[in-house]
Amino acid sequence: MREVANVNGTLSLLEDARIPITDRGFLYGDSLYEVIIIENGYPMFLKEHLERMKKSAEKMRMKLTISDEEMTEEINRTIAFYGEKPQRIYCRWIITRGTGPLTLANQTQPNNFVIIVKEFPVNADPLTSTVSVKVTDIQRNSDDSMDPNIKSGNYLNNILALDEANKDGYNECLMSRDGLLCELSRANFWLYSKGTWSTPAKHVLSGITRDKIIEALNSAGIKAEIRDIKVGELLEAEEVALSSTTKNLYPINLVHLNGKEHSFSSRENWIKANEVILKFISDYQKTLTPYF
Ligand SMILES: Cc1ncc(COP(=O)(O)O)c(C=O)c1O
Repeated sequence: MREVANVNGTLSLLEDARIPITDRGFLYGDSLYEVIIIENGYPMFLKEHLERMKKSAEKMRMKLTISDEEMTEEINRTIAFYGEKPQRIYCRWIITRGTGPLTLANQTQPNNFVIIVKEFPVNADPLTSTVSVKVTDIQRNSDDSMDPNIKSGNYLNNILALDEANKDGYNECLMSRDGLLCELSRANFWLYSKGTWSTPAKHVLSGITRDKIIEALNSAGIKAEIRDIKVGELLEAEEVALSSTTKNLYPINLVHLNGKEHSFSSRENWIKANEVILKFISDYQKTLTPYF
């Protein structure tokens, strides 16, 4: 399968791409990133991802030396170089605080950027798939330390929680903090109870899919909100799900909490929500010019 990269404007196969070992992304995880999916040629929510990139840069006090227009142009060049036209293309761009001396002191150099483009598999059927999560002992980073709302390249918190869940036999982790549910390693969390879809407010990344789901559901008269969700609320939930750029709203069927497993077999409300979301996506695509 062809996988290509663009490093500071130089296009190559992924395996041939190189960055300097003094790059701060490599040394310290001092980088930000975004992922978009190009679905049937349509670059999904590119504008929103560029906006979040700038918010991350601001929160991490990183000066961006590449503009939205330059980034978009480089993404377009990389997709043209990739050349293939599968149903789903994965496009990740990473911007680092540049190449620097071996010190933590802040930026003196321009950013380095890397874009990676490859095919992304179509999701397994959500009606029959099994996603199990463990509410981990590892807590989510706090909003007021390393804010999860910075989409940085430093995923150690998530890696540790995912490792804990995987070692215990679960596909995914569900991190919490101070008794509140937060998010999974690469996805926001959702819970359906008493007629409302809810997703956690604190210690999470502001997922672009999360915001689009809220917009889509609310405009279709289905209640969806961002709020604090206590860990114990899991016990009363009717359905639980995750959301991300690659998965949209995707059901979770098993949650491990404090040594007990809770299964969620109903997809009734997920099916209703998913219909609305798919219509929202199709309407959105009609506003775009596809790549191919
Ligand atoms: C920690 C975390 N939370 C949530 C998300 C979902 O965000 P989005 O919907 O923008 O893909 C991601 C996606 O990578 C993530 O890494």
